[in-house]
Amino acid sequence: MLVLAIESSCDETSAALVRDGREVLSNEISSQVDVHALYGGVVPELAARHHLEAGPLVVEQALQQAGIRLDQVEGVVVTRGPGLIGALLVGLSQAKGIAWAGKVPLVGVHHIEGHILAPLLEQEVAFPFLALAVSGGHTHLFRVDGIGRYRLLGHTLDDAAGEAFDKVAKMCGLGYPGGAQIDRLARDGNVGAYDFPRPMLHQPNFNFSFSGIKTAVLTALKKRGTLPVGSDLADLAASFQQAVVEVLTRKTFRAAEANGLSRIVVAGGVACNSQLRREFSRLAADSGCQVVFPSPKLCADNAAMLAVAGDFYLRQGLTDDLSLNACASWPLEQAGQEFSARLGLLGG
Ligand code: KG4
Ligand code: ZN
Repeated sequence: MLVLAIESSCDETSAALVRDGREVLSNEISSQVDVHALYGGVVPELAARHHLEAGPLVVEQALQQAGIRLDQVEGVVVTRGPGLIGALLVGLSQAKGIAWAGKVPLVGVHHIEGHILAPLLEQEVAFPFLALAVSGGHTHLFRVDGIGRYRLLGHTLDDAAGEAFDKVAKMCGLGYPGGAQIDRLARDGNVGAYDFPRPMLHQPNFNFSFSGIKTAVLTALKKRGTLPVGSDLADLAASFQQAVVEVLTRKTFRAAEANGLSRIVVAGGVACNSQLRREFSRLAADSGCQVVFPSPKLCADNAAMLAVAGDFYLRQGLTDDLSLNACASWPLEQAGQEFSARLGLLGG
């Protein structure tokens, strides 16, 4: 089956053509980073307006890149939520229009479901596995027993890890989004220069908290009185990043062990972080666990990642009608239960 996937939950407009939920023929992304950088964060109305302008062009580019005509598309997959409501509604409306005009089925999937199944576009990953979804909006651990079968094991109680990266970058006078810049600066820094806390590391649960590390950075900056530059900035970036990476990796491995899982998927924008990838790989070698990262293009927001679940649901006959609405807030576990119940009704 050849599906067109559309993603518009935040500040990337993306469209992809994917065959059989595995073969990515194209995965076009139009980033709005420059628009929002002026404001130091995503401005929801501007995001929606940019999706409206860029959406048709991005779909056209995805078709051209794949060498596919619109009338060859057999199904449309779209992010239903969670995300910015205006941004989601634009992508959803576009997907509905295309599905209606082409008389092909439509299905709305969960954004985080897309992220954690993204590695399946590049390699076989057997179920069950533990998934760490780590992005600008999420830091969640799930047990994944199959497509649509997700159990929440832990989550951040305050900021998402990506949000902490972005806020610390902003405090240091770096641009938005700051995660990749901290990553780059940290390469030349000393991870032991600042002693930032490792919140909740030793608690016997799988929840996270990142606002304390962020506050510790703010306190260190206030004590200095001036913004750090050069090697000072690199040291601060490296020390902050190390604190976040240590908490993420240690707790994830502990959750895998406690749940008898020997495969770990790390997905979402923060999964691009080089130190996080290094540390996960190092601990994997020590523990015998398999750790899987999508390639960087499939870690950040993109439409192709939606096609894994979308293709699966469409094949089972699980489709949405044209009254489908967007969900700004939509827990993945709940989405999975809804999909499973509907599959059950279909006899799947
Ligand atoms: O998954 P994503 O593209 O969008 C959301 O669904 O949130 O993730 C974006 C987040 C941003 O917070 C960004 O700063 C962070 O991922 N990020 C990184 C890196 N690249 C992107 N954080 C740390 N290191 C990176 N290399
Ligand atoms: Zn995302």
